[in-house]
Amino acid sequence: MDLKEHIRAIPDFPSAGILFYDISPLLAHPGAWQATVDRLATIVEEHKPDVLAGIESRGFLVAAPLALKLNLGFVMVRKQGKLPGATIPYTYDLEYGSDTIEIQADAVEPGQKVFLLDDLLATGGTMNAAARLLRSAGAEVTGAACIIELTFLKGRDHLDMPIRTLLPYD
Ligand code: PRP
Ligand code: MG
Repeated sequence: MDLKEHIRAIPDFPSAGILFYDISPLLAHPGAWQATVDRLATIVEEHKPDVLAGIESRGFLVAAPLALKLNLGFVMVRKQGKLPGATIPYTYDLEYGSDTIEIQADAVEPGQKVFLLDDLLATGGTMNAAARLLRSAGAEVTGAACIIELTFLKGRDHLDMPIRTLLPYD
């Protein structure tokens, strides 16, 4: 099945000159979404993680079905201020300004093997920050996967763990 048939490219979103790759048609098609989850599951299984981590918000859509399918726990990496109780934050630089993501303080145990999931790899800033956050909590990041990769942005060059993606766009 050609999963790219279910990815919609929308020009000038969220701002002029940006071509946005929309996964909504993929989510709306049960067969294509099942195939996506199955392909990602094969990748995740190779890394034998103890737990999955999904990056807010579209990463949740990817991590949650994989956690169920593979009988693994699922940790939410969220934007600041969304998680109750004690949290561990990580602040990273953006082109203009900075952003902070966090996990709950007891989300991972030291030495746990965590596999990271998101829908799309662009500059790699988000994925890199999530990996650093999880490591700061004592976890071992065994790898990461996304559905889409914007290869021309070379985001994978900024990552220090194995990253696999299903659909490259250049
Ligand atoms: C998008 C996408 C990835 C991230 C990739 O999320 O879902 O999480 O950007 O960009 P990067 O590799 O340059 O860091 P976005 O911040 O738009 O939020 P959303 O997932 O909540 O829609
Ligand atoms: Mg996102």
